[in-house]
Amino acid sequence: MTDKLARIRADLPAVERIAFLNTGTCGPLPARAAAAMAAVTGQEYSEGRASTKRFQQMRLDGQAVRALFGELLHVAPETIAVTGHTTEGMNIVSYGFNWQPGDEVVTTTLEHEAGLFPLYFIARRYGITIRYADIGLGEDPLPAIEAAFTPRTRLVSVSHVSYSSGVCLPLAEIVTAAHARGVPVLADGAQAAGVFDLDLAGLGVDFYALPGQKWLCGPEGTGALYVSPARWDTLEPTYAGFTAVAEQDWRGGYTLAPGALRYESGTKYPATMAGLRASLDWFLHDVGPEWAYARIASLSARARRMLEGLAGVRILTPASRQASLINFLPVGWSPARMAGLVDALTERGFIIRSIPHVPYCVRVSCGFYNTEAEIDGLGTALADLLAAGPEAIAIPEWAAAYGLSDEPVW
Ligand SMILES: Cc1ncc(COP(=O)(O)O)c(C=O)c1O
Repeated sequence: MTDKLARIRADLPAVERIAFLNTGTCGPLPARAAAAMAAVTGQEYSEGRASTKRFQQMRLDGQAVRALFGELLHVAPETIAVTGHTTEGMNIVSYGFNWQPGDEVVTTTLEHEAGLFPLYFIARRYGITIRYADIGLGEDPLPAIEAAFTPRTRLVSVSHVSYSSGVCLPLAEIVTAAHARGVPVLADGAQAAGVFDLDLAGLGVDFYALPGQKWLCGPEGTGALYVSPARWDTLEPTYAGFTAVAEQDWRGGYTLAPGALRYESGTKYPATMAGLRASLDWFLHDVGPEWAYARIASLSARARRMLEGLAGVRILTPASRQASLINFLPVGWSPARMAGLVDALTERGFIIRSIPHVPYCVRVSCGFYNTEAEIDGLGTALADLLAAGPEAIAIPEWAAAYGLSDEPVW
């Protein structure tokens, strides 16, 4: 292990307890973020929560967080709204248009609830049509996406990296195809932000929603939404509070806050803001994004090779479009046994996850802090469990709550 990796891992106490190969759900928390949050909650408890000094600190943390997200995404801080999660960003954009009955949105068959459910609800409320581009596992997604456009298309809403197949969609090409038809693009960056370099201005994407808690190792309940300056005038704020308006006269006269700040509202939890600021600062200035991206890519390639070497394993993530996630399954195993496999691996010291719905699989995601030995160890544990077969795996109690059947799907 290099000195740098040892130092980074020492900043993340949780990674010493277990091989944490599920960053796609949540990254580990750096010590300094935990300390920043503890300092705020301690102060709240002992000094109270209503001082001007504290309010100013919240404002400064918000400004710093916008600037840090801007640095990560190579865009100006004014283009960033701080949100509570990716889902909030997807909602802000999906609800932000003056929809007319018959308008259409293009999305894909590999989306997360975060992007999909706002579309269901705007469809129900405004009578719009959702066109699902059937992109299979995502090997060659562009033709199906292009075929879904009609003259009524008003928005494209897609994941940058699909959480269920692991495919990294060609966002720049999707943006080019959409813009050629005058249509803006909303991307869900939950599985992309902190994984590879994101030059949002270069990509030309109009809206980009991302979380704090996954690859960026921030606290839960944090995220950001990028809104391109070209769209500030057309994307309406759907809910508003004191941050959304710059000046007003109490009688309906107002000017909107400059830039993406207009999409924020209300008081955020100061402890999570302080923690997010510390995590982003640590990721950008201690870990170093280039180093992190290179490590994630090389560990993911190693994990793929490991899985390719296991008999009976089918990898769903297209090889040429792999980024943060590798989705796979032991052929002939039921969804319930795959859930049990994840629990059996946890007992052996490895955390991964199962996807308990279509396409029913298991998923490994490597963080920059993982070691090569952890990947190899996962391979040995998996080989052992697969050799014993699905009958040797107990079905977890919670499988019933998800309606997971014991019939193989693949
Ligand atoms: C593609 C994708 N979008 C959205 C989410 C939800 O993220 P958040 O909890 O930040 O809303 C996830 C998380 O698992 C995800 O994988």
